[in-house]
Amino acid sequence: MSELTLEPGTSTPGRHASDDVVLRVSDLAVRYAAGRGAAVTAVRGVSFDVRRGEVFGVVGESGSGKSSICNALMRMLPNSARVEATGVEFGGRDLLSLTDKQMRGIRGTEIALVPQRPMTSLSPTTPVGQQLRWYFGDSIDDSDVRDSLARIGLHSVLGRLDNLPSRFSGGQLQRLLIAIATLTNRPSLLLADEPTTTLDATVQAQVLKLLLGIRDTLGLSIVYVSHDLGVIAQICDRVGVMYGGRLVEVATTSDLFHRPQHPYTKALLGAMPARWTPERGRLSTLRGTAAGANRATGCPFAPRCALADARCTEEMPAVLGDRTSMVRCHRVEEAT
Ligand SMILES: Nc1ncnc2c1ncn2[C@@H]1O[C@H](COP(=O)(O)OP(=O)(O)OP(=O)(O)O)[C@@H](O)[C@H]1O
Ligand SMILES: [Mg+2]
Repeated sequence: MSELTLEPGTSTPGRHASDDVVLRVSDLAVRYAAGRGAAVTAVRGVSFDVRRGEVFGVVGESGSGKSSICNALMRMLPNSARVEATGVEFGGRDLLSLTDKQMRGIRGTEIALVPQRPMTSLSPTTPVGQQLRWYFGDSIDDSDVRDSLARIGLHSVLGRLDNLPSRFSGGQLQRLLIAIATLTNRPSLLLADEPTTTLDATVQAQVLKLLLGIRDTLGLSIVYVSHDLGVIAQICDRVGVMYGGRLVEVATTSDLFHRPQHPYTKALLGAMPARWTPERGRLSTLRGTAAGANRATGCPFAPRCALADARCTEEMPAVLGDRTSMVRCHRVEEAT
């Protein structure tokens, strides 16, 4: 068991997060134009705030639009993508209205991204040590920087700086990118897209501890994307649950785990191996697939929801609540 195993909601807002909103996303939509296939609406109507020092988790199954949100915020989507929003405010600026040059000034310095696929973010033909110098300069030789890198298990990388990235494991490269993103320019917002998915439990715990440490010392805000509810429970203050490109529930970590509202959130929790005990019998699984979830009408979860009726397939549920805590579900609305 890792030394960082916390109870869900231990990392509560108010304990670390301030009231200052660092990032305010309003009505974000991402569409990919049709290539040979049909156009895809990957994200729609997504609104959330992230406060200073807060870790905001984004959870949802594969294809639900998590990476599209991160890449849209960084303005790093392919040309085929169209991004629309009422606003994406960061530090008093609307990120979507900035020029490319202004955005380059923010990317990597004020907002950092740890991308989902580490291999595509490092040059394959340049030794790792040289790439580290691009980011850290000569401070890579400082004992503080080396200590920080060693603390997240990068001793072996530091001992082989003349090797190319291909000579390291995916987990080592992923940790290297986290170190570069957080330790070099000290950004105020980190977008971490599945940053520990390729790591074993021990190293994952070291990395999560490093991130929480940086959050505490710098007041760093983190958008933490994961499909792993166990990790989300350990690190996040609040969580947004994505389904079919929509946020269907936003809640504090404690509320999400102890009082889930949306049927999809409940299904996700029911399918969590860590919550399974032999007495419970078979681990529950979610019937059907998410195919077609990004259709325009109705609740995206309706085709798989045991509680759905005609209204759910025809009418998109309204947001119940606000940006801090909300759910989109006709059944929950009718019950309140
Ligand atoms: N460059 C692209 N061109 C066309 N469609 C894309 C592109 N990138 C993503 N998509 C589509 O957008 C939807 C959301 O993808 P996205 O990568 O944001 O999901 P995700 O939640 O990050 O999934 P995963 O958990 O697998 O990383 C998917 O249907 C995907 O096929
Ligand atoms: Mg992704």
